[in-house]
Amino acid sequence: MCGVIGFSGVTPCVTSIFNGLKRLEYRGYDSSGIAVMADQRISVVKSKGKLNQLEPLLASLPADACVGMGHTRWATHGAPSTENAHPHSDEGISIIHNGILENYKELKIKLLEEGVSFLSETDSEVVVHLLRAELRLVHDVRKALLNVIGKLEGAYALGVMTQHEPGVIYVVKNASPIVLGIGHNENFFASDVLALLPHTNRFIFPEDGELARIVPDGVEVWDFFGKKLDKEIVSLNQEEARADKGGYRHYMLKEIHEQPAVLANTIERLVDLEAGEVRGELTGLCKLDLAAVRKIHIVACGTAFYAGLMGRYQIESFARLPVDCELASEFRYRNPCLDRSTLVIAVTQSGETADTLACIKHAKKAGCQTFALCNVLYSSVPRESDVTLYMEAGPEIGVASTKAFTSMVLNFFLMSLELARLRGVRSPEGMERALEALRILPNQVSSLMSLEARISELAGELFESGHCLFLGRGHFYPVALEGALKLKEISYIHAEGYAAGELKHGPIALIDKNMPVIAIINTCQDFEKTLSNLEEIHAREGQLIVVGQDKDRRLEDLCRYMIPCPVSPEPALQALLNVIPLQMFAYFMALHRGTDVDQPRNLAKSVTVE
Ligand code: M6R
Repeated sequence: MCGVIGFSGVTPCVTSIFNGLKRLEYRGYDSSGIAVMADQRISVVKSKGKLNQLEPLLASLPADACVGMGHTRWATHGAPSTENAHPHSDEGISIIHNGILENYKELKIKLLEEGVSFLSETDSEVVVHLLRAELRLVHDVRKALLNVIGKLEGAYALGVMTQHEPGVIYVVKNASPIVLGIGHNENFFASDVLALLPHTNRFIFPEDGELARIVPDGVEVWDFFGKKLDKEIVSLNQEEARADKGGYRHYMLKEIHEQPAVLANTIERLVDLEAGEVRGELTGLCKLDLAAVRKIHIVACGTAFYAGLMGRYQIESFARLPVDCELASEFRYRNPCLDRSTLVIAVTQSGETADTLACIKHAKKAGCQTFALCNVLYSSVPRESDVTLYMEAGPEIGVASTKAFTSMVLNFFLMSLELARLRGVRSPEGMERALEALRILPNQVSSLMSLEARISELAGELFESGHCLFLGRGHFYPVALEGALKLKEISYIHAEGYAAGELKHGPIALIDKNMPVIAIINTCQDFEKTLSNLEEIHAREGQLIVVGQDKDRRLEDLCRYMIPCPVSPEPALQALLNVIPLQMFAYFMALHRGTDVDQPRNLAKSVTVE
């Protein structure tokens, strides 16, 4: 969950490291630090808090340093503090770490018994002391590092700099993401490609169990047994993504507003509207052995899981295949029945979520076919999967996922249509309705942007509420879950998403005049049933806010506030439309409460530890 970056070159690197950390700050932002080497000496600055706290300290680093590493932290072991910030250093050794060392306690106890003193509460610091001890024995950094690695259990992407080999950075990868960048007279490493795009578009993607040595004129890679590897250099034609807010106050708001374009691009890329066909070959589904597939498991975390729930409805109704959708953190430990007849679909914006990645690895071992729906090129989940459909939503920087979610939903919709065709179960009327819905979708999403003022006004009335309930049925149940997640993660208001039919089984006890209830209701699915749930809430004086279609007078009589949405002929895309006002609602609630919208407390964009 931390971001790591390093440079070994012939020109000063402090500013580049700091700018790289800014691009990685979404991964963790409770403390940060930089270590550079000049004149065979390592200098370190560290600070608690966000990167702007570190910035004033940069002047104390040698301006001519051409080798260095930076780290932005999401605390796992030890509170966010300057002491616990990386790099951790001792006797001319400096290390940065992303991951969790599962056996650090026993290693630390042993080191303490040997008289070593620790400066931090982190798991990572053991690496510094282990390496120092090994270097006394073997006097060769690579060999010493390999010996240290032999003692470590858990997940680690490590950057290591020592005065024993000035100008050299070692990088180690095991179950945490790392990419190596290849430049001219300078080479790099980082947690992701995005951080290095201003410097290069040529990359090496190390596998787990590999170690690299980076110097200005080259990069060498070995496996953990010391065997030298010939790694492919991949050139990515990815345009350097704009990492600024484009005039918006927050990334989240910018990303909400990018949705019409992202969805229009997806439709243009994946659908031939004139021919009335999904461009099936671009989905990658035809590369699977679908004749063998009897069941689909969708695995994901957080918002991606809710998109997966929507995908389940879509695939089952169009392609008539049984689909389970499960939280990746549960699936991986449940010992599910898996074999070649099971297709496991991993949904992930970042492609680095530890639990989702573990599921794909587990599924592959069990003989399943694997498919990734992902937004980040060359990230870990696609690299582990048989086939990947990239969403091409562009970089999502705000921790609260918005455009990635709607993009996942749309991609699932198109995948369902293609699966239906490949399985020979597509109905012409169903396809016609789907195409009609797709044709009007981008304009409908654009029109939702005009709701901003109205939703901001609503948030102005509700932002002091301590709780909020979200309700929906069928396709709109995952919308309720997603609305609740968005609200809690950025406004810190306790929110729950419920299937409306579950109301009487418990949550109705919560309803009184102080409980805002946001109901997602549309005529295309279970309208009357949801309406009677809303009657029950009204009768108990709950404050009802309705998101959906506004054509029914009965709704007007019941609710205090109506957020009208355009009507789609497809329930799945109706759900997509309904979620956007909920993203805005969470955003404005957070704004009114003065919380940190883009970097909410305790969270990180990419959850690379379980
Ligand atoms: O990168 P992923 O899509 O795998 O991330 C999964 C979740 O961590 C993510 O969706 C998280 O729930 C978001 N912060 C929600 O807005």
